[in-house]
Amino acid sequence: MKQLEEYVRSIPDFPEEGIIFRDVTSVLQDADGLQLAVDTMQDKVKDLEFDVVVGPESRGFIFGTPIAYNLKKPFVLIRKKGKLPCETVSIDYELEYGTATIEMHKDSIKPGQKILIVDDLIATGGTTEAMIRLIESLGGEVVGIVVMIELAGLKGRERLKDYRLESAICYE
Ligand code: PRP
Ligand code: HPA
Repeated sequence: MKQLEEYVRSIPDFPEEGIIFRDVTSVLQDADGLQLAVDTMQDKVKDLEFDVVVGPESRGFIFGTPIAYNLKKPFVLIRKKGKLPCETVSIDYELEYGTATIEMHKDSIKPGQKILIVDDLIATGGTTEAMIRLIESLGGEVVGIVVMIELAGLKGRERLKDYRLESAICYE
């Protein structure tokens, strides 16, 4: 059986020169790859107790929803600006390349709820840090973060040192 890392395709100089892009589509388009990715991520947090899974648009949705479904937890979406119809909290943040604004519905989590964040990949940790600030502004407690891929050279783990971070694959 193939290892999870063998499903990840690496593209040099995308979307900008000097960046090695770790492509999750090559994992998802293989039935065994998809299953292995979700199962491995879920296994990394099997000891955690939490109430809600939160994932960001767009690739966080892909991995967050099956984990929430398998564990019979609700799934809350964090979306890019202007997509959510009800009252939101919002935050601006910096990406590895560019800037963005994300939002979540104010009523999507209740004060005191324990939150697991799920995403495909952590690079600088900026997206996750912004998600944590949104969740905490609503009174949620982030008890863990799980991603398929960690780009360790971008030091997201240091930025998130006060939180438990699990990754299925780590690239230097
Ligand atoms: C990517 C990725 C993570 C984030 C990681 O999402 O899916 O959410 O960047 O980078 P960071 O750790 O430096 O914040 P992106 O904003 O490109 O959105 P997408 O999933 O819609 O492509
Ligand atoms: N791959 C996929 N998504 C990303 C990357 C990457 O290398 N860096 C930031 N988002």
